[in-house]
Parts: sequence; structure tokens; C-alpha cells
Amino acid sequence: MSPGADAAGEIERLREQIRHHNHRYYVLDDPLIPDSEYDRLLRRLQELERAHPELVSADSPTQRVGAGPLAAFATVRHEIPMLSLDNVFSEDELRAFDRRVRERLGDEAGVDYCCEPKLDGVAVSMLYEQGVLVRAATRGDGTTGEDITANVRTIASVPLRLPAAVPPQRLEVRGEVYMPHRGFEEMNRRAAQRGEKTFVNPRNAAAGSLRQLDPRITAARPLEFCAYGLGVLDGASMPATQSGALAWLRELGVRTSGELRVARGVEECLAYYARMQERRAALRYDIDGIVFKVDSVALQQRLGFVSRAPRWAVAHKFPAQEEMTTLLGVEFQVGRTGAITPVARLAPVFVGGVTVSNATLHNMDEVRRLGLMAGDTVIVRRAGDVIPQVVRVLEEQRAPHARAIALPVNCPVCGSPVEQGEGEAVARCSGGLVCAAQQKETIRHFASRRALDIEGLGEKLIEQLVDQGVVRNVADIYALDEATLAGLERMGEKSARKLLAAIARSKRTTLDRFLYGLGMREVGEATALALARHFGTLEALLAADAGELQQVPDVGPVVAGHVVAFFAVPENRALIGRLLEAGIAWPAVEKPGASAPLAGKTVVLTGTLEAMTREEAGERLARLGAKVAGSVSARTHIVIAGPGAGSKLARAEALGIEVWDEAQLLDFLSRNGAD
Ligand code: IVH
Repeated sequence: MSPGADAAGEIERLREQIRHHNHRYYVLDDPLIPDSEYDRLLRRLQELERAHPELVSADSPTQRVGAGPLAAFATVRHEIPMLSLDNVFSEDELRAFDRRVRERLGDEAGVDYCCEPKLDGVAVSMLYEQGVLVRAATRGDGTTGEDITANVRTIASVPLRLPAAVPPQRLEVRGEVYMPHRGFEEMNRRAAQRGEKTFVNPRNAAAGSLRQLDPRITAARPLEFCAYGLGVLDGASMPATQSGALAWLRELGVRTSGELRVARGVEECLAYYARMQERRAALRYDIDGIVFKVDSVALQQRLGFVSRAPRWAVAHKFPAQEEMTTLLGVEFQVGRTGAITPVARLAPVFVGGVTVSNATLHNMDEVRRLGLMAGDTVIVRRAGDVIPQVVRVLEEQRAPHARAIALPVNCPVCGSPVEQGEGEAVARCSGGLVCAAQQKETIRHFASRRALDIEGLGEKLIEQLVDQGVVRNVADIYALDEATLAGLERMGEKSARKLLAAIARSKRTTLDRFLYGLGMREVGEATALALARHFGTLEALLAADAGELQQVPDVGPVVAGHVVAFFAVPENRALIGRLLEAGIAWPAVEKPGASAPLAGKTVVLTGTLEAMTREEAGERLARLGAKVAGSVSARTHIVIAGPGAGSKLARAEALGIEVWDEAQLLDFLSRNGAD
């Protein structure tokens, strides 16, 4: 055998292996080998192909990026037009769609529908001949689109050759090219770093990436593909149902959605819609609704089309997550530690399923980054339970009367000067506990559920107590009497007695709750617990200097500085004295033993959690003996990743660290009595 024949054999074997692993990874979501091993296979194939250029073929996994840039896209005529979908926006409209379908079919009972997420990307048609990808095109006007073969070939989840043993002669796969959130954010972050233009949303990013004449640019973009239908089909018979067609495509090696279900009748469709609306925020990619398709292809044919949309399918859209509105003005709120937060007052707008009229702007850097002026037209986004955000200004629509937004010189509540430290994003009211806003927030925090937990001492009541000068600080709470309380608005004797009982109960607490309740800057629950465990008693903590404080896990110079500064203020010491005199007490601090379920384990939290904040999760993990750290390293044992997790998760995966999702965390906490 010649050396060339040897190489040809090895090349073929490598291509087979790589195709198989692509299929496991992209279609089945079930990779067999680590990425490093995959990279080795690919590199070996590249090496052999470089040595034997005559053996390179267009469907080789190395040939995703072909020749240089195109001058322009060629046009492609679709053999079967690519239709669009009619939209419905409410339950009633979906029921009306179902009624029309049943009337036309003369079917009283329910119709089966194939339910699919409506991916928010770009529709693409891909033609496979004898299993080899020969052409990919955009939808265009439905009749003719653009030839984007070179770009689509760069998308890793698109097979260049179907791994099926006997693929059909000609098969047109239709589906969506889209960009998952994580890739989108990462790409925008890099673009911003380089001072380049960022994309507004993942759909625009996907469309922009496919429209590149140079496929090397597309190759660098994190695009994915998912199929939702068939077009041309020669050499195989058409499956009898839409769900069957998608199952068949998956068998042929094409990626389809893992969320597909067949629903019997409109009620099941509505239940699917509701379920997916809840899951929406947890998905890796954007969906903007659900597509319902009559499952039976025979019934589809009987129903036919009207103009450019089928009568047998409909898109039930989710409420939009982004809407346009007017920024009426910016107000400045004062927080517990005096931090001054600009808050956008908006003309009320229905977005993400609720009416939004306020959105936090975080700080003045954010106002400058957005280039906001009062009176501007802005885009407001609300996704899932995430707080509403102003994401963008439509500068081209700026009104002549738009006004600049300036940080106030004096605190809007107490009039004390506003200060901003060198290099700090946050401006603060210098009034300290003289400031009524800070008083209220400090009291609210002290009484909150995870601090001293005074049930019934809510925002409205605190507002009255502070405004009337009855309560100025947290120690005053313990001097309240029934007569004073009963005299307040919306308070009777009964609720006054109830509140006094809750205040009395709050005196039995724990050292960590007490420390957390004091509201020192940067001392959240996890840090309060670490301080309590390390020092054991309040006296020992009060006596500690910055150096000793930094012996505590995860306490650095900044936190230590805040703690020292807090205890150095005579008024704060006096306040603590009064609280103790009022009878606040706690049992001796328990340290978790070596037998604690997470003793000796370092855990990192990343992304957003739904059931609790990261801070709360950290505190519960710490109670089970874990050390909660901020960054992932080789010494990390577990990474808990919620949606939106980015570089920390990627690092954990690269290091082979155990990763839990929120469900696993909740399960672990409940099994160990920490929920
Ligand atoms: S079916 C004959 N299914 O939505 C039906 N479309 O508004 C043609 N889309 O152009 C489309 N997910 O880009 C279908 N599961 C899905 C889809 C889907 C997203 C997009 C597609 C289409 C547009 C129609």
C-alpha cells in the first residue's frame, strides 16, 4: 500500500469519528469525549489534509471556512415557497384559530398540534444532495432568497454531511439560525472592549452575522441552528405528521428542538404555552412565542394556505420583552448606606407582561453610558422576573426640549451635600443617620425577614414612624408602646399588640443576623456569618482591627475597612449598647464541624437564581460548612450556575469542576435541612 492510501484511510476514519462526535455534541446534546480530545482529532485531520491536499473534500469537517470573501450573494429561487406565519397574541385568538381549523375540517373533537418554540433568529433553507450540504439560502421574500452557503457551513451545529447511512437523494431542511444568550453577551462584551459597535439583541446579531460576505467573520460568531420543517424531498416518502418529520430529521442527524410536544386539542396547547412562558427565562436562547402546527400532513394539505401563510399553523407570541416609551425624568433615591440611585420615571408601558413606569439606572456612569436625556424616547426591557431596564436611547428621535441629567449637589431628602469618592461609580448622601431616607432604609433592613425578622414592621409603617419623629434609629423600635402604635394610621389596638409581640420575639436572635441587621456596608448575610463564626462573640469582633478582620475567609481590605469604620463611630457603639440593653441576645455561636455536609468544600455561585438571591444561597451553603468564594480556580469544588452564567461557568467546564444548576442546589439544601 502506498503512503497516500494509508493517509486516505486515516483521513476517512478521522472524518467519520469527527462527524460522529459532532452529532453527539450538537444533535444529541450528549458528548462522548472531552473537547480537548475532539480538538486533537480535528488537528490530526488538518495535519493530514495539509500534507495531502489532493485528499481534501468539500464535506470534510475541516472545510467549514472555505475560500475568501464573496463580492455579493447570488440569488436562490426556492422550489417550494418559504411561507411565514400568522400571529396571535391572546388565548381567545388562539381558540379562534383552533375553531377555524376544526370548522374547515368538519372536526368537532380535538385536533393534534405539534408544539414548537418559536426561535428568535433567521429562517434558513439548507439543501442536502445524497446527504451532502450543497446550498443554504435565506428566506428572502419567500420566493427568492440569498445564497449564504459559505456562511452556513461555518455553523458547527449544521452537519456538512448527514451521518445517516442512506440519506435521501434530495432533502431540504428548514430551520432557524440564532445566537444563544451567552455567546451574544460575550461577543458584545468583546466588541465594546475594542470600541466597536455592539448588537442590539441576539436576533440582529444572528442576522448581521449571516449577512457577512466574508465567511471568516461568520465563523467567529457563536451561531447555532435548529430545524423545524422540511421543504423539497426526493428519494424518500414524506412522514405522515410534522412531529414525525422532525423525529426523522433528528434520526438523519439534524438538530431539532428538545422542547417539542404533541398536544391534543387547544387546551393542551394553552398549557404548553403557559409552561414554556415560565421556562423562557431559563432557556439558553431567545424564543418569542410558540408555533402550533396541525400535526397531520394530510390535514395540513386539506387546510391549505391563504396568501403567504398556512391555515394549519399559527405563532402564539409572548408579550414583547422590549418596548419603546418616553423617559419623563430621572429621580434620585437614597438607599440605606446613602447611595444615591438615579431612577427613570417612564411613561407607563406594557412590557414583559406587566406595566412598567420606573426603572433603575444604577448610577451616573450608566446614565452617561446610555447617553440619556430627560424627554428621550427609550427602549425598556423586562425579561422574566428581572427588574426592568432602560437598554437604549433612540437618539435620532431626540426632542429639541430634551434636558441633560445631572447628579444633585444636595441630598434630595435631607439636603446634606452629595459626595462621590475618587474612582467610585456610586455617589452618596453625606447626611448619615440624620437623613430620613437612610433612617427608613436602615430600619427596614434591620426588621427584614433575614435580619431581625420583625413581622408587620413594613415600609408604610416605618415611613409614618420616621416622618412623625417617633423612631429615628433601630434602638427606638424597642421603646415603642401600644398607645403610640395604636394612634398611627391604619393601626388598631389589635395590630399594635401583634407588632409589639413580634418586636419582643425579635430579641431572641443569632449573632450573624444581628450583624447583618446592623447594615454595615458590604456586610451581607454570608459575610456576617463568617464574622460571627470567626470571632464567636460581639466583644471579640468589636475589639478586632483591620488586620484581624482580614483573617476571616473572604474579608478583604475593603470590607474590613467598612467594619472598622462602622464600629469607630461613637453613635453606632451607643446604638449597639441600647439594643443590648433592650434585651437583644443570642445563643453562643455554633461552628460547623468537620462532619458538616460541605465541610472543606469551596463553592462558587454564578448567574441568576430564581428561588433566592446568590447572597441567600451563599449563606445557606456556608451554614452547611462550605466556603463560598468569588472566583473559580483549581481549588473550587462546586460551581452553581444559574441562567446568564458566563466566564465562571466556562472556566469551571474547562477545569472539569462539578457544576450544579439551581434545581440540584435546592434539592441539596432541602435534603440537608437548609432550605
Ligand atoms: S414554521 C409554514 N416553525 O418564524 C411555516 N417557523 O413568523 C413556516 N420560526 O420565518 C415557518 N421558529 O423564521 C416555523 N418552530 C418554528 C419556528 C419558526 C421560528 C420563524 C421562522 C419563520 C417565522 C415566521
